[in-house]
Amino acid sequence: MAVSFERGRLELPVSIRERIQAAKTASVLTGSGVSAESGVPTFRGADGVWSKYDWRVLATREGFRKDPRLVWEWYQLRQIEIAKAKPNAAHETIADMERHFGSFAVLTQNIDGLHARAGSKRIVELHGNIWRMRCERDGTVITTDEPVKKIPPLCQCGAILRPDVVWFGEQLPETAAKEASEVARTSDVMFVVGTSAVVYPAAALPIIAKNSGGLVVEVNTEPTDISAHADLSVIGRAGEVMPVLWQLIA
Ligand SMILES: NC(=O)c1ccc[n+]([C@@H]2O[C@H](COP(=O)([O-])OP(=O)(O)OC[C@H]3O[C@@H](n4cnc5c(N)ncnc54)[C@H](O)[C@@H]3O)[C@@H](O)[C@H]2O)c1
Ligand SMILES: [Zn+2]
Repeated sequence: MAVSFERGRLELPVSIRERIQAAKTASVLTGSGVSAESGVPTFRGADGVWSKYDWRVLATREGFRKDPRLVWEWYQLRQIEIAKAKPNAAHETIADMERHFGSFAVLTQNIDGLHARAGSKRIVELHGNIWRMRCERDGTVITTDEPVKKIPPLCQCGAILRPDVVWFGEQLPETAAKEASEVARTSDVMFVVGTSAVVYPAAALPIIAKNSGGLVVEVNTEPTDISAHADLSVIGRAGEVMPVLWQLIA
């Protein structure tokens, strides 16, 4: 069922509200839409990053091998942009929700680290984190909290470090993918917030939750492939909908 969010008002069906209130385990799957109101651009769509830049050059291993300097210049710009961004009301609500449920996890496709900055504790990062760099030669992982200064950054072993993010054509980190499926399978309720749900295997998670008997509640500015499977789709901006939705439940 789809409901729109108009003038800050949300009609939450009683049966849905009761199921969320009775839930012991909950999860939230997030995509770049949850960070849009923080000023971090989404990837797809008319204003999406990939309408302006070529992902083959900037977000593949081959592109990185060909021109690590160019790829790092792009990641440095994104780090600068993300460093300026602040968690919004959606990130904050999601951090609040964690205290309410016996078991809770944020499954995120975002690499911006905004869930952690908002105070979420259990975060499963499916696509890595822009604040980590990794050496493909010896596995060294370095975490930073400011944009890279020297481009390209080097490992102590002399190899060029890469951003510790998942690029096109790459596998998800195995432990994160396993944990996410397990969380989905055991969620009494899963909120799906700001994701177009076209990138697999993350897009399968709401289906896993649903097929395991969980309730699926979607929040997005437009209908997605998940909408047909969701018990409730709220059409609206995450930063506006999430606090109101949560107020009706907690
Ligand atoms: N912030 C980040 O870390 C960031 C930013 C861009 C892309 N990515 C990467 O992009 C890939 C994934 O795709 P995706 O599904 O996250 O992004 P996407 O760009 O494919 O989809 C974004 C979705 O968010 C919705 N949306 C936009 N603004 C919204 C708002 N204010 N409130 C609610 N929904 C809103 C759109 O309708 C769309 O469905 C991932 O691999 C992720 O790592 C990450
Ligand atoms: Zn190294």
